Amino acid sequence: MRYLGNKTKLLDFITYVIDKYNIKGEIFADLFAGTGSVGDYFKDKYSIVANDFMYYSYIFNHSKILNKKAPSFKTFKNKHSIDIFEWLNNKKFKPNKHFFIYNNYTPIGGRKFFTEENGLKIDGIRLIIEELYRDKLLSESEYYFLLASLLESVTKVSNTSGTYEAFFKFWESRSLKTFTLEPLDFRNSDLKSTNKVYNQDSNDLIRIINGDILYIDPPYSVTQYSSAYHMLETIARYDFPLIKGVGGKREKGKYISLYSRKQNALTQFEDLFRQANFKHILISYSNQSIVPLKELTDLCKFFAINGKVHIEYLQYKEYQNHRSSNKRDGDELKEVIIYFDKDFSFAKSPLNYSGSKDTLMPEIVKVLPKHVGTFVDVMGGAFNVGANIIATEKVVYNEKNKFIHGILKWLLKNNSNYLIKEIEKVISNFKLEKRAKNEYYSLRDYYNNNISSYLHLYVLHMYGFQNMIRFNASHQFNTPIGVAGYSDDIKNRIINFKMKTKKIELSNKCYTKLKYDEYPIDTIFYFDPPYFITSAAYNDGKRGMNGWDGESEVELLSILSNLHQLGYKFILSNLLHHKEKTNHILLEWVQEHNFNVIEVGVSGWRYVKNEVLIINY
Ligand SMILES: C[S@@+](CC[C@H](N)C(=O)[O-])C[C@H]1O[C@@H](n2cnc3c(N)ncnc32)[C@H](O)[C@@H]1O
Repeated sequence: MRYLGNKTKLLDFITYVIDKYNIKGEIFADLFAGTGSVGDYFKDKYSIVANDFMYYSYIFNHSKILNKKAPSFKTFKNKHSIDIFEWLNNKKFKPNKHFFIYNNYTPIGGRKFFTEENGLKIDGIRLIIEELYRDKLLSESEYYFLLASLLESVTKVSNTSGTYEAFFKFWESRSLKTFTLEPLDFRNSDLKSTNKVYNQDSNDLIRIINGDILYIDPPYSVTQYSSAYHMLETIARYDFPLIKGVGGKREKGKYISLYSRKQNALTQFEDLFRQANFKHILISYSNQSIVPLKELTDLCKFFAINGKVHIEYLQYKEYQNHRSSNKRDGDELKEVIIYFDKDFSFAKSPLNYSGSKDTLMPEIVKVLPKHVGTFVDVMGGAFNVGANIIATEKVVYNEKNKFIHGILKWLLKNNSNYLIKEIEKVISNFKLEKRAKNEYYSLRDYYNNNISSYLHLYVLHMYGFQNMIRFNASHQFNTPIGVAGYSDDIKNRIINFKMKTKKIELSNKCYTKLKYDEYPIDTIFYFDPPYFITSAAYNDGKRGMNGWDGESEVELLSILSNLHQLGYKFILSNLLHHKEKTNHILLEWVQEHNFNVIEVGVSGWRYVKNEVLIINY
């Protein structure tokens, strides 16, 4: 079928890439499925998930992906004893003032998309299909199959160059042929497994599906499919839309693809990659598309395992539409497939810290906005969150406690081999072991009386009671011995503590002193304060830390309100309820501002809590 960006001719190319990289999987999703040619081709190999936000496309995909052969039309045949296509093609229709195509898109309506005779047939058949379905003479799959056959047959008598933005002034030969309803052209083949068809925006759908291979074939140009194929949409829906202009186009409404807009396309990709729960990602694109290839591949690198992205080129003749003829300085059009494996790893900080968010990372990533330019982990602690966020510009780690900040800085600035060597040296010099009291206290004395190095403090925290880092009034580290110590787990965490974003900035300030308004507007501020209604160890105002009382809570909320007013996005981790307590200050503030509360489940193993994320977008 004639369709912009139709991949019928590129199926071998897609197969070539899958074979070349030995890409394996069970579930294959085609998120911008158009005519359904890709899912149709692969339906005997994978379980297919097909999606497109246009309804006509849903009809094509429903018919091609869910059927292994044309439906039998048994009920209809039992009643009429004739092939349904023959029966429909033999019907005669009289003009009717409610016939939408005849009255708007033939010379009767002042447009030459179809001859009057063909317009009548299209309307007549479209309405009979609806009646047959209502009267239960068609099953659901027979209904969609007839609609898909109708849409495909319409494209064969349209007096256009292929899209429906405009019609020819003369009658092109194909449009003078008598309209005939022909069965949809698709592959008769067994289905590998149950397939699914969706009719949604891909960036919404990506949040609720998962699988192995994600095939992305978004629009390449500024042409909106809802505009180019308005005719197919109207025949599919038959919803009597308001239409305008020479082309008689329906309002695009919400069917405007941001992938076709220069200022939005890259962000759409960013969001799709970040939210994708698929191992392998393949993108069909071209060197003349909305997003320059270099920008797209650079973006892919952020999300790929070890930043490894493959690009395969296919020489292909330039397709033309009336807006994009021979562009880009005569550069030859090259179709490409970009391929990468998505990195799903989360690194857990080597610093054990009360309130660590490592287990909640997947939930935090899910609530991120579509674009994350700069990410500020305002109350960074062990830096489990910021370290695992992909931001296109940079991640900022801020922590006011100079000891925590110092340990983190030391962990980040040195390579893991060096760190492990130094740590193991201290352990062996002091003969540290789990529960070995005297050895632990001699390290503690050494730390308090000699050089206060972050190396020694870090080792102390491993063996100290509940990994606390606390000091007495005379600034002496005074955590008693605990039950844990250095382990393979800690060693692996040191080795694997790699930043997801290369550019990291460290800051050691009270969060109230950050210069928020100096950050670019695409900054996301993440706040993970002590929780007002729980009694985590750092929350009581003793042990060398400031407490977190009602005043602290109010101060934080006023800073957040201010950020909101300035137009910034924030994420706040907190608890609204815990055991029998409720944080009324927070609850009322959330309701007052109508912020979103997302329940993210349970965190902590010592003190189990039901966490929420509060976001202002
Ligand atoms: C290049 S075409 C796909 C062609 C298809 N592979 C084929 O062989 O027919 C791009 C498709 O993306 C759809 N589309 C554009 N933006 C979308 C969005 N945000 N969500 C879902 N579908 C979208 C369009 O309706 C169009 O059918």
